[in-house]
Amino acid sequence: MERTQLLELANKYGSPLYVYDTDKIASQYKRLTGAFNSVKSLKLNYAVKALSNVNILKFLTNLGAGLDTVSIQEVHLSLTTGIDPKNIIYTPNGVSLQEIEEVAKLGVQINIDNLSILELFGQKHPEIPVCVRINPHIMAGGNSKISVGHIDSKFGISIHQVPHIKRVVENTGMNINGIHMHTGSDILDIDTFLRASEILFDVAKQFKNIDFIDFGSGFKVPYKEGDISTDIEQLGVQLSERFNEFCTEYGKEITLMFEPGKFLVSEAGSFLAKVNVVKQTTSTVFAHVDSGFNHLVRPMMYDSYHHITNISNPTGKDRYYSVVGYICETDTFASNRRISEISEEDVLCFHNAGAYCFSMASNYNSRYIPAEVMVVNGKEYLIRKRQTMQDILHNQVVVDFAPKNKTKKEKVTA
Ligand SMILES: Cc1ncc(COP(=O)(O)O)c(C=O)c1O
Repeated sequence: MERTQLLELANKYGSPLYVYDTDKIASQYKRLTGAFNSVKSLKLNYAVKALSNVNILKFLTNLGAGLDTVSIQEVHLSLTTGIDPKNIIYTPNGVSLQEIEEVAKLGVQINIDNLSILELFGQKHPEIPVCVRINPHIMAGGNSKISVGHIDSKFGISIHQVPHIKRVVENTGMNINGIHMHTGSDILDIDTFLRASEILFDVAKQFKNIDFIDFGSGFKVPYKEGDISTDIEQLGVQLSERFNEFCTEYGKEITLMFEPGKFLVSEAGSFLAKVNVVKQTTSTVFAHVDSGFNHLVRPMMYDSYHHITNISNPTGKDRYYSVVGYICETDTFASNRRISEISEEDVLCFHNAGAYCFSMASNYNSRYIPAEVMVVNGKEYLIRKRQTMQDILHNQVVVDFAPKNKTKKEKVTA
């Protein structure tokens, strides 16, 4: 987005502020569908967890996306957009049978990632087809905290337990209609997808009624100019060809699914924060912004890189800054980064702030969660108001626990 428009938004709505550019979301959606245009049936289910404002969900469903959810609350949120429940997939991890049953009742596609719940669900509801999440035992992802398809991971049913899944199916009479994997986030190498895909084809062949294979997500997007990213077009060529071959072998045109989060919304988001203090120490110049890991936790949580630009002074001389927040623990966004000269009250833009930024925000230090603005065809819409003290107090129950002062009469009788 234009620097001047971002500055205007920061002035108008205050800081900190999240801004989303829907043109970028639409172009990413088009890019991914375009890469797989030789597949007859393709479905992209947007991973709601990445950015769950209902306006963003609506924007994506209007483009034709389904929704990928991980909790019953995300399912209910998704349903507020008016989406057909059949276009929602629910991939929980470690939730109760009861929650899965409640979601199944809503008509949503269930994806189960452990054998004990699969068996219980199959015994009680053999008529409801389910997808199974397979753990292909592949190490992939930009950081150990977002690598979820390896042998020690808590996610999915091991490929070595596929015979067990088949036994459950035989014993319960249930139907497996989909095979799923998600190996991690920030995966650069398309060979990782292709290797894991072969494993899924192999599993899918062992079930008679497969309608779809869901290859998860994890595409790496660029975090700064010239940064490397997953070669979606190349993946499209190679995986589509192999998928089409698989459909022929399987004797049925099934659906190829993905559930991208970051790929669709990461680059569309900018997080704007104002510099409160520029502090020179003996070794470092700190730029303290009016935010912290309560609003953008990714750098502290898994060392993620967010490019930072000074949109108030784009042409200043580059100097080294450590950009930090106002939280009462270390909350470093960037260490010794070259940024155009910063003065107090300048607005800094944190790029790639569309995915896992607002959705991981908290009220830590009793700070308000910032507002969100969405820009559609150049026109801005406030899609969430900044919180107020009322939001912080909402649901807190103030109780009267202090011992009452005894009256004179009570004291005498005691
Ligand atoms: C099951 C599942 N699907 C999809 C995603 C989205 O991944 P990404 O944001 O890397 O596209 C995640 C992310 O954690 C996930 O756990």
